[in-house]
Amino acid sequence: MSARAPILGHDPAPGPAPTRRRAPRGEGEDAPVSSSTAQHPDAVRIALLGCGTVGSQVVRLLREHADDLAARAGARLELVGIAVRDTDAERDPWVPRELLTADAAALVARADIVVELIGGIDPVRPLVLAALESGATVVTGNKALLAAHGPELHGAAERSGADLYYEAAVAGAVPVVYGLRESLAGDNVDAVLGIVNGTTNFILDEMATRGLSFDDALALAQELGYAEADPTADVDGHDAAAKAAILASLAFHTRVSIDDVPVTGIRQVTAADMAEAREAGYVIKLLAVARRITDNGTRGISVRVHPALLPATHPLAAVRGAFNAVVVEAEAAGRLMFYGQGAGGAPTASAVLGDLVAAASHKVHGGNAPRESTYAELPLVTDAQTPARTQVQLRLADEPGTLAAVAGVYGEHGVSIESVRQTGADDGDARITIVSHLATEAALAQTVAKLSDDPRVHEVVSVMRVEGN
Ligand code: NDP
Ligand code: HSE
Repeated sequence: MSARAPILGHDPAPGPAPTRRRAPRGEGEDAPVSSSTAQHPDAVRIALLGCGTVGSQVVRLLREHADDLAARAGARLELVGIAVRDTDAERDPWVPRELLTADAAALVARADIVVELIGGIDPVRPLVLAALESGATVVTGNKALLAAHGPELHGAAERSGADLYYEAAVAGAVPVVYGLRESLAGDNVDAVLGIVNGTTNFILDEMATRGLSFDDALALAQELGYAEADPTADVDGHDAAAKAAILASLAFHTRVSIDDVPVTGIRQVTAADMAEAREAGYVIKLLAVARRITDNGTRGISVRVHPALLPATHPLAAVRGAFNAVVVEAEAAGRLMFYGQGAGGAPTASAVLGDLVAAASHKVHGGNAPRESTYAELPLVTDAQTPARTQVQLRLADEPGTLAAVAGVYGEHGVSIESVRQTGADDGDARITIVSHLATEAALAQTVAKLSDDPRVHEVVSVMRVEGN
């Protein structure tokens, strides 16, 4: 299918020939516009799908900054319709009711750029595919859709020459998608470590700084509007896993789906874990971790989401409350950190508007967003082969030789111990905290399994990964 022509203005403007823009409807639709006949449009038609927390703020900013946005994009961003579920529901006062429609499919068919802010997979997927297949640019904040169906969406965009933008899908206002997709396109990324879920960072921060239990911190997050009534997607790590898949795909030029990301959420983290971590100079964060693996002849990438101990001196340790941050380690650039508000109507709308200006500018002046880059096709390294460091807390019989036996189990499995601390005693038992050096997940898991079977080990209290340096 052909890309659609934006609404045309009256004055042909000088300038370089657009590369992909097509002739206006009714004037040889499928013929590329030649440099001598190219016209700049007065306006680019925007269809907004969804007018909730983010969509409503997009409408506000589009209206409040209409002149500036037009100057930056080279044409007016004309909102031609807003698809919602309930056209009679109350809306923010700046939302023009006459633009509301329940017919999202019809709206998609008359737009140059479709901004999708409904969320989820159904009924969004066919709408977004229809838009891309018709040549309309899609701007979306929908991590779930991208992480599950990214290749299908990118494929549709590739076939029609449409653009797909998704800055808002990861870490709200934080421009990490642009950073990886464009700024770092010339570098080799070694690792991405991110706090990409604000709700869980808020909960963990409250537990760490105020000693709240997980349940009390979650209740507070719900009261303050960070966590949903059903907090599963956040606290069980699924939201972070979708974002991890998107970041890893961009960082390593390899398709990564949410199904490729092993996830552990934060429900098992206790106030005692927090206190213990602080004593040892760590903080506990829910991290999205994506690494290029080149150890021991294994070549590939590892992507996962889990709570981890981070040294209190690591830049991500300072990320408080509901903020997000992503650290990228790249071969030439070194360490970079992207930080800011990862959610909320206005911050997320800022990311959407940034994409919209870029998308509209391409409609006006020609050019395209970067295409999906998957040439590297790095294999996903299974969890068992992934190098990791862990902290294991044990409750042991406080008797001569117990510690030596435990150290022996580590040695038998080829796992080197970095530190051992005796951190307390309960009912005659000693509590020992052991941090390992890097070893494979498999060796670490076997070590813990063997320790659990040892009668002198009365309890494996916790096992947690250690990240950062
Ligand atoms: P909301 O739930 O607040 O809004 C969803 C909107 O979609 C509502 O206006 C709803 O209509 C509309 N809608 C739902 N189903 C349909 C349908 N079948 N047809 C037409 N419209 C429909 O979502 P958010 O604004 O919070 O999130 C939007 C997207 O942005 C999601 O992908 C989310 O993951 C992403 N995002 C959100 C962030 C945030 O902080 N909220 C942060 C980063 C990304 P109605 O109003 O009538 O119910
Ligand atoms: N619920 C997410 C968070 C925001 O807490 O960060 C949208 O992805």
